[in-house]
Amino acid sequence: MAKITPAHHDSLTEAGGAIAKGQLVAFGTETVYGLGGDATNPIAVAKIYAAKGRPAFNPLISHIDSTSHAFDLGEPTLMAQQLADDYWPGPMTLILNKTPKCPVHDLATAGLDSIALRVPSKKEARLFLQAAGCPVAAPSANRSGRISPTRAQHVLEELGDCDDLAMILDMGAAEEGLESTVIDARGDAPVILRPGSITTTMIACSTGVMPTTPGKDIISPGQLASHYAPSKPVVLDALAAQDGDIMIGFGTHGREAVLNLSTTGDLTEAAANLYDMLRSADAQAGKRIAIAPIPEEGLGIAILDRLRRAAADRP
Ligand code: TXA
Ligand code: MG
Repeated sequence: MAKITPAHHDSLTEAGGAIAKGQLVAFGTETVYGLGGDATNPIAVAKIYAAKGRPAFNPLISHIDSTSHAFDLGEPTLMAQQLADDYWPGPMTLILNKTPKCPVHDLATAGLDSIALRVPSKKEARLFLQAAGCPVAAPSANRSGRISPTRAQHVLEELGDCDDLAMILDMGAAEEGLESTVIDARGDAPVILRPGSITTTMIACSTGVMPTTPGKDIISPGQLASHYAPSKPVVLDALAAQDGDIMIGFGTHGREAVLNLSTTGDLTEAAANLYDMLRSADAQAGKRIAIAPIPEEGLGIAILDRLRRAAADRP
């Protein structure tokens, strides 16, 4: 059974050693907790897919501690440089063409010529990446298709019985609470493959080019319809709880509910609370989770993206 260990100098050194041995380490970031392994080691990467029960065609993000390390692995475009200057370290993942010397294994990129790269802003996360000394492949540390973890305790609940998981580094609650914005930065215009807290407007300001979203056919492999799902069914745009519902309110809608993403209607607070509240609603007695309307603007776009998948028909 993996243990939760506070992130401090000694435990970070120990975690770096575990990664070098091909074991897995769960660690915090500002978005969600990640399940990390050496991205250059196919055995470590295979352990990640096995622990999550993840379809092997779904490529992983490689995490590094600096922009210069990122651009050793992926060919920087002008657009990527602008975005990296403005939003790295931070909750943004860039898709770039792999460099010829990129040591990340094909299993981590699912055999694509491109690579997903992220420099997280949480200080302890970057100390962990320095201790690892290699690119760390890390999807969210949950079983495939389930709610992403925003606290060390959530990781323990999801993956605590995984033999390959050497340790869970406790880095506190994830401040942002939603996965990074994924941007394909290879072409003429940025393409948002997954919305997040780096918004369309922020990307347009940084690059001077209005981002697009992919057509149905060229969607990011991870954008499966049902995802982020609690075990109970989820209904959206609920104005009040029906019989047997556990209500999650937002602003004045569902004021009487115990769970409210943000009583003041603040989308940043709502994003940070989202996965934790979905988990606690799922653990309560009741048939269904009903969620109050969320405005589809700014960070609300990313929140609704996740909620629609949580509410989608299950495979
Ligand atoms: O905030 C985050 O991004 C978290 C933390 C741990 O960093 N990680 C995360 O990883 O959400 P994951 O594996 O759950 O999501 C990675 C997304 C998937 O939708 C995947 O399909 C996409 O990135 N992706 C990875 N490599 C890609 C590539 N080469 N081309 C297009 N999409 C890619
Ligand atoms: Mg995920």
